[in-house]
Amino acid sequence: MTNQEEVYKCEICGNIVEVLHEAGGQLVCCGQSMKLQKENTVEASKEKHIPIIKGKKVLVGEIAHPMEEGHYIEWIEATDGKQTIRIFLKPKQKPEAEFCFKPKSARTYCNLHGLWKSR
Ligand SMILES: [Fe+2]
Repeated sequence: MTNQEEVYKCEICGNIVEVLHEAGGQLVCCGQSMKLQKENTVEASKEKHIPIIKGKKVLVGEIAHPMEEGHYIEWIEATDGKQTIRIFLKPKQKPEAEFCFKPKSARTYCNLHGLWKSR
């Protein structure tokens, strides 16, 4: 059983997928179940990952998250309840994105620390 917008990761090959249409099946990759990525909303380390919405912009972390080759924000996703847009980032870019609408909520994905959601 899946739910729309859930993010799953294969712990063997690293494939990551998002559910667009929920159904009863189980997502499998490399011969085993894919792992549901929890939407973290509480920081446990000094790395800051929680998306902060400022107007049409979404910033990652009160202190900008690192954007290095081995540790960076892969994407920032925002929704206003009707539309969802995801902007993919690369190392050395700023950990922020500007959208064409004012997001009501946002999610980010760190390649080391997983999925995070705005409060
Ligand atoms: Fe991180």
